[in-house]
Amino acid sequence: MNKIILATQNAHKLEELRSVLPKGWEVLTAFDAGIRGELPETGSTLEENAFQKAMYLWNHCGIPSLADDSGLQVAGLSGAPGVNSAMYAGPERSDQANRSLLLANLAGAVDRAATFRTVLAWATLEGIQLYEGVVHGQITHDERGEYGFGYDRIFVPNEGDGRTFAEMLPEEKVAMSHRSRAVRAWLTGLERS
Ligand code: IMP
Repeated sequence: MNKIILATQNAHKLEELRSVLPKGWEVLTAFDAGIRGELPETGSTLEENAFQKAMYLWNHCGIPSLADDSGLQVAGLSGAPGVNSAMYAGPERSDQANRSLLLANLAGAVDRAATFRTVLAWATLEGIQLYEGVVHGQITHDERGEYGFGYDRIFVPNEGDGRTFAEMLPEEKVAMSHRSRAVRAWLTGLERS
């Protein structure tokens, strides 16, 4: 049986990741593997952060490790919040404060294009590989929906039917999310190796 460690501790992200991973795999979290506290995440790009987290887990546990780092890039805000998405409104990492600040900073903007991006880093004995998933969309003027987390209530994917990610059932979001696309790219990479 394949056994892997996921870097994330966020319950929403774990659920999304687990729902697209192959059935029958033993999937541990960093906590399950005995790691306590925050994983290192001091990079200035999603790639650097994903790399750091996966490498840390591999070095400490010796089990193939998958780390994800994601962010929302808003065109009208020169790509912000980007790598700072979790702490956009401050170190408290409040989803509500982050969404409110983003809507305030984008008030009156005509260009509301935004892109969710996930970078996955996969660390094994063979080294480390990076995979990417993106979804393009628009920032709403108001919050809509109850599902999901983070910026889901203010992001409408272009390929959807006008609903925000937070108005979609979890499986509808997963069908087009940046995170599940990155996972599919990783699984394709595994099949080829
Ligand atoms: P992380 O560094 O991968 O934990 O993601 C940084 C931040 O991006 C999170 O705290 C969320 O605010 C936001 N984010 C990442 N993925 C999503 C998503 O799928 N929906 C909404 N917000 C997200």
